[in-house]
Amino acid sequence: MFKGLSPINYNGREVWPLVEGGKGVAATNHASAGAWAAAGGIGTVSAVNADSYDADGKIIPQIYRALTRRERHEELIQYAIEGAVQQVKRAFEIAGGKGAININVLWEMGGAQRVLQGVLERTRGMVAGVTCGAGMPYKLSEIAAHHEVSYLPIVSSGRAFRALWKRAYSKAQEWLAAVVYEDPWLAGGHNGLSNAEDPRAPQDPYPRVKALREVMREGGLPDSVPIVMAGGVWYLRDWNDWIDNPELGAIAFQFGTRPLLTQESPIPEGWKAKLMEIDEGDVLLHRFSPTGFYSSAVRNPFLRHLEARSERQIPYSTEAAGDHTFQLDVGVKGKNFWVTRNDLLRAREWHGLGFTSALKTPDNTLVFVTLEDQQIIRKDQADCMGCLSQCQFSSWADTETNSTGRLADPRSFCIQKTLQDIAHGGDTDQNLMFAGHAAYNFKRDPFYSNGFVPTVKQLVDRILTGD
Ligand SMILES: Cc1cc2nc3c(=O)[nH]c(=O)nc-3n(C[C@H](O)[C@H](O)[C@H](O)COP(=O)(O)O)c2cc1C
Ligand code: SF4
Repeated sequence: MFKGLSPINYNGREVWPLVEGGKGVAATNHASAGAWAAAGGIGTVSAVNADSYDADGKIIPQIYRALTRRERHEELIQYAIEGAVQQVKRAFEIAGGKGAININVLWEMGGAQRVLQGVLERTRGMVAGVTCGAGMPYKLSEIAAHHEVSYLPIVSSGRAFRALWKRAYSKAQEWLAAVVYEDPWLAGGHNGLSNAEDPRAPQDPYPRVKALREVMREGGLPDSVPIVMAGGVWYLRDWNDWIDNPELGAIAFQFGTRPLLTQESPIPEGWKAKLMEIDEGDVLLHRFSPTGFYSSAVRNPFLRHLEARSERQIPYSTEAAGDHTFQLDVGVKGKNFWVTRNDLLRAREWHGLGFTSALKTPDNTLVFVTLEDQQIIRKDQADCMGCLSQCQFSSWADTETNSTGRLADPRSFCIQKTLQDIAHGGDTDQNLMFAGHAAYNFKRDPFYSNGFVPTVKQLVDRILTGD
């Protein structure tokens, strides 16, 4: 028997402890977040490159006109602020005074602080709180306190929260509404795995959340400040022993993948259809994101293409040394590429198969790609609009020099391009499709049988039954 949930007080109102996980770009918006709030929960508008609308209500394509990356980065920030403001205003209206509306930003997105400030300045009284992960958002508390909104950091360990608390959050305790624990092995989107954690050895969330609660207690936070469990949550009946458990304190639940498939979910129909086809094991935790973070997405042809590219990779030296005594004679110009005999043979084979261009990586390796792929990679790097604070793919950095100082990495990809494309009707096989590892449940859960796509209200009601 499912224990059932009790409402919590959030932002001065009783709400269900159910959070719609924010999803960029444009995978949660006014329609989904407003409906989630109207159903009594906490909806989340994604403030990561959100869409704006023209006078007819049509999405304005984000076209970049400036000639330099720095200027395009400025254009991007303006689009991002305007888009998020419009989304929040609409979401607030749809919510009709019920539930609450949060916004989500990624700390490592380009201009994160300016976007956050810009949005909060123009949405006074509408935003209840800010959820923020991907990086160490020390300044989040200060910005939230300044705008008198709550903040909900997203962490994947007690250790990360301890660092944030000690350095910054303890000074703005009253605005800390909850701490989101995102399971780095199971959640969709970017994942907070640290170097000490093995991507192939998932850890039970219970002891990790218990440890997080202990860190929160050490800091003097009462058990009434919820920990929001995110990542792999599908049926609440599976979480019975987490609910009303004095060891863990107050618990809320965040759903990221499951709400992708609702009537109000803004993702295109083609993407929704694909969700119904996912089998267990189809979601891959990988490290291709240009942010350098791990992330989880459907292992579709787009991701397989990147996997294959990285497999066609060989180390090289610029002079003959060690076992690099064979001069590479395919894929490169010049004579300064020395490889092993075995790698020379592999490279010649790839060349024969059409992978005729060898591109340097920042790790003194070469990857072999087709001429067509080489051109796409170079074009995407040249078109960069600085959507991240640091990008491994283009080597853009939001600094004085606008460079990471490292070689651009052809093993990665432009995440801005692909997420914009998939969110606006692009090919679901040829784009990054973020998803959590529990996504196979769409196919198994009888709730979705015969292609049923619930409204957000129907989904929230269903979740509240434990199913
Ligand atoms: C398509 C997609 C996009 C996401 N984008 C973001 C994002 O922009 N910011 C963020 O903090 N989390 C993002 N997430 C994570 C969700 O907010 C949520 O925490 C996570 O999906 C929960 O795990 P689940 O996928 O198992 O439900 C994304 C997840 C998905 C599936
Ligand atoms: S190349 Fe990198 S920083 Fe530039 S737009 Fe693409 S993902 Fe963003």
